[in-house]
Amino acid sequence: MFTYIGLASRSRARMSIRTKKEVVCAILPPHYSPLSERATAFAPVNFALAKYWGKRNEELFLPVTDSFSVAVDAGTTTTVSQAQERDIILLNGNEVGEDQPFHSRLSAFLDLFRPSPLFFFSISTINTIPTAAGLASSASGFAALVLALNSFFGWNCTLEQLSVLARLGSGSASRSIYSGFVHWKKGEREDGMDSFAVPYKGWWEDLRFGIYMVSNEKKIIDSRTAMKRTVATSPLYSLWPENVKTTIDQIKEGLRLKDFSLFGSAVEQNALTMHATMFTSTPPICYWHKDSLETMKRIWKTREEGVNLYFTMDAGPNLKFLFLKSSEKEVIRLFPELSCLSLIP
Ligand code: PMV
Repeated sequence: MFTYIGLASRSRARMSIRTKKEVVCAILPPHYSPLSERATAFAPVNFALAKYWGKRNEELFLPVTDSFSVAVDAGTTTTVSQAQERDIILLNGNEVGEDQPFHSRLSAFLDLFRPSPLFFFSISTINTIPTAAGLASSASGFAALVLALNSFFGWNCTLEQLSVLARLGSGSASRSIYSGFVHWKKGEREDGMDSFAVPYKGWWEDLRFGIYMVSNEKKIIDSRTAMKRTVATSPLYSLWPENVKTTIDQIKEGLRLKDFSLFGSAVEQNALTMHATMFTSTPPICYWHKDSLETMKRIWKTREEGVNLYFTMDAGPNLKFLFLKSSEKEVIRLFPELSCLSLIP
């Protein structure tokens, strides 16, 4: 069953919602102004365990499938205040030029929330993860921004509404509103008002994650373009929705039974299916580097030798390792370059 986020008034309920601006108008009060001089918020990076790959609506970032993630102890802290004359954007302390894609993407998102056309923002964003290395910094970035805007303007939005607003910046940002395990429901409605993430109650104290960096170069193709091409051209895409459904069921069952082989193999299988699906797009999409494949082979060999280690990969060449506390020493001995991250409950 999907909950529907109520519209603010009856007259607005009659309006049909087709654009991001219309979603924002349906959720936020008609008039607002800053409550304080500045507001700061943190949002965690989320690791997708069952991936979001493919949109059913390109404008509203509505996914074809549900997805499932877990928050890790890294992310984005964003401070919002008012600026004069133009938007000022700082990324890790350095001002981002107006000609940079990062600036235009953020300013376009901020256009949705300006209380008046000549209201400008100063945004300072600190990431504890490399930007655009396939480690989903855009997810924590848009989620932290929406959380900070909510405090700055005193919108008093629910977390579900904030999840919808974050989704308008980047789909996976809908999940970074929460810590712990998170289930983003794809929703059924055309306007996407029922497409938001909700926290999932399961927890697993002994679960461990590591990031295996193959490269921190900018990705070869952004996920938006890559998804669109996969949906439009891959002959395997029709199999994807069923794969995600099964993965989410298996992950939940693995969590419930604390069965790490079930959990880890479902996660790894889903990532490989996503990459296999994009390989078969026209033109093909391959985020892997030579070392990505080498590392996968080492993981498979390590597993054959009895260490319960799995991986997942997003739209980039880097790997995320999954293992249990009981294998931690052995995994770090075998892969000393691994950066370990804890989960945030
Ligand atoms: O939210 P986007 O547009 O950055 O897409 C994220 C896509 C993946 O990271 C590959 C999968 C996911 O569910 O996060």
